[in-house]
Amino acid sequence: MSLVVHRFRQLPSTQDEARRLVEAGEAGAGHVVVADVQTEGRGRFGREWLSPVGGLYATFVVPGHPTIQITVGVAVLRALERFGVKGALKWPNDLVVDGKKLAGILIEIAGELALVGIGVNLEEAPLETATSVRDAGSVARRGELVVALGEEMRSARESEEALPAYRASLSTLGHFVRFALEDGDTIEGKAFDVDEAGRLLVETAEGIRTVSSGECVLLRT
Ligand code: BTN
Repeated sequence: MSLVVHRFRQLPSTQDEARRLVEAGEAGAGHVVVADVQTEGRGRFGREWLSPVGGLYATFVVPGHPTIQITVGVAVLRALERFGVKGALKWPNDLVVDGKKLAGILIEIAGELALVGIGVNLEEAPLETATSVRDAGSVARRGELVVALGEEMRSARESEEALPAYRASLSTLGHFVRFALEDGDTIEGKAFDVDEAGRLLVETAEGIRTVSSGECVLLRT
């Protein structure tokens, strides 16, 4: 099945345009919204996602499914591997190279569908803590990477191998981590595994805790 691409020079956010198109009945599973520049790109926890010219900013419309966090992380990793970028995942699904962030994923729900927003630093790394495909010594044309992402997302969704691949790529496992939860609680301990939905299992002084969302701070290995 080929991808239907909605391409824009500039948008506030590809997430919002994808939602608008879905709600208007003009897009569905298999469509992707791509912009050269975003003026109000956003990341997880409502953070800003800097989106200058030269990056990849895309929202894929896909069927919602319970293991989406896992399959999308694996798909982004594999798509970038096609262009020679060897990365790892920081829980839940930041793509990092040498500990620096190269790509981020934002998953939002739209009824039965999921809006999978992917931002990839292709040329510039807009922050000190970030890196890019170019910094990793590779070249990826944006159009080819969009196609690769679409293909890898579909095959990860249909594969039994996504969970083992996700576990194997998760550099967070084995680290001491800290989470500040929305209710004010803090979880601190050793991340030792993920469950079948991609939730992180953390061994704390009080026992095993399961973390489904939150900002993961790596403390030490
Ligand atoms: C994160 O790491 O916090 C997620 C970043 C997701 C950024 C992408 S860029 C395309 C899509 N549109 C947005 O506004 N955000 C996502």
